[in-house]
Amino acid sequence: MARIPLMAGNWKMNLNHIEAIALVQKLAYTFNAEDFAALEIAVIPPFTDIRSVQTLVDGDKIALKYGAQDLAKADKGAFTGEISGPMLAKLGCTFVIVGHSERREYHGENDQTVNLKVQAALRNGITPIVCVGEGSEVRNAGEQVSHTLRQLDAALAGVSSKDVANLVIAYEPVWAIGTGEVATPADAQEVCGAIRDQIRNVHGSAADQARVLYGGSMKADNVAALMKEADIDGGLVGGASLDPDEFVSVCRYRMHP
Ligand code: PGA
Repeated sequence: MARIPLMAGNWKMNLNHIEAIALVQKLAYTFNAEDFAALEIAVIPPFTDIRSVQTLVDGDKIALKYGAQDLAKADKGAFTGEISGPMLAKLGCTFVIVGHSERREYHGENDQTVNLKVQAALRNGITPIVCVGEGSEVRNAGEQVSHTLRQLDAALAGVSSKDVANLVIAYEPVWAIGTGEVATPADAQEVCGAIRDQIRNVHGSAADQARVLYGGSMKADNVAALMKEADIDGGLVGGASLDPDEFVSVCRYRMHP
């Protein structure tokens, strides 16, 4: 079964809801039916923008998907400052990023937190984009595959093969995030291929359906080579997703020479 490519723009803590409307309008105006037929395209804005994005996407019937950058482990309760899966589901979120390296590093999220958040997303009908990947020390030691697979196993503990088939894994080497230092296609494929093999070992044919993205300084001028790799099904695009022309060009990788 052919996997539909996915390009997801992770805006991180950028753009207020007015700026979000302007960017989504620009994207809606530029993407055509062919683009939306060729791949899934998503934006992942800050929480405060999501209602505005929902209103625009629904009102103008834009084929763009959207999601959130994080969610709470619990569905409701006394958790000041948290945003729950049911709230995101009500906002029409298709995706939610879980376990981004910035959450792991600055907010103390460990593999167990990530696993509980994956389960919270699935319980609310939202597709988690589960982030895994090694830092530079691990890469220098040549342990990127074993490190990343350990994170993967922990994130997916207790998740059924049926759910695994529908989820998205983003391999994001931490040393490539926001640094301009992109992994070579071969280096990205090494780990993305290992992720798929591991999913196959545990969940069989779910591995043919689950999508594996690359993330880390993906841009218009490096996307095409990455997308030629057998086990890279798309990208989690940070900085380059804030510039509409650049993001459109990333999503049109298939037209690059
Ligand atoms: P970057 O970020 O494209 O700016 O490197 C990717 C990410 O962190 O998701």
